[in-house]
Amino acid sequence: MAQLSPILAPSILASDHANLAAGVGAVKALGLQWVHIDIMDGHFVPNLTFGPGVVKALRGTSELFFDVHLMLDNPQLYVEPFAQAGASQISIHVEPEYDIQGTLRRIRDLGCQNGIVLNPDTPVEAVFPFLSEVDLVLVMTVQPGFGGQSFREDTLPKLAALDGRRQSGGLEFRLEVDGGIDLDTAPRCRVVGADTFVVGTAFFSSSDRPSFAAAIGNL
Ligand code: DX5
Ligand code: ZN
Repeated sequence: MAQLSPILAPSILASDHANLAAGVGAVKALGLQWVHIDIMDGHFVPNLTFGPGVVKALRGTSELFFDVHLMLDNPQLYVEPFAQAGASQISIHVEPEYDIQGTLRRIRDLGCQNGIVLNPDTPVEAVFPFLSEVDLVLVMTVQPGFGGQSFREDTLPKLAALDGRRQSGGLEFRLEVDGGIDLDTAPRCRVVGADTFVVGTAFFSSSDRPSFAAAIGNL
């Protein structure tokens, strides 16, 4: 099966939080389609970010594809508020104890695409039961919670394993990476199957964003 074309999803976690709409606007101005929005609850990860109200406000300024990454202990309680706020896709972690399959289905019922996420220390097998009913698998390439961390090399075999399952099973989910992604690490993820690249620090701190976006687009 041919590789899916690459998508760059800039993470507004690394943009100016006093002007998030400008961060989203900068993504749009480059002709990109996706924006990654990190939602943290201070429990599942030791940081706090945005609630549904922020997503709704941004939706009022933009029609881009909002790739919403929930880092929450109880994501099942929040998929509806984020869907109503204008999420295009909602990704939920495999680590907390809750009805994962039911929540993935609920996300689709709410009219959004769904995704399953695993942390760097979570065995890849943990997401295998869900592969036939997700639009995206997100492999965290850092421990989630903060931008600006170094890429974890030990996540590369997980990408290869997921890409193998995708091909052997005739599945169509996107394979996304998030954390420490830049112009060195993105190609290394691409060769083992990644097609969707979340980039925070390296994108928003780039002095030449058009070239950065073109480089990812040409992977
Ligand atoms: C980390 C978040 C990431 C973060 C990536 O917990 O899930 O989306 O924005 O940031 P960088 O690209 O700076 O590692
Ligand atoms: Zn993220």
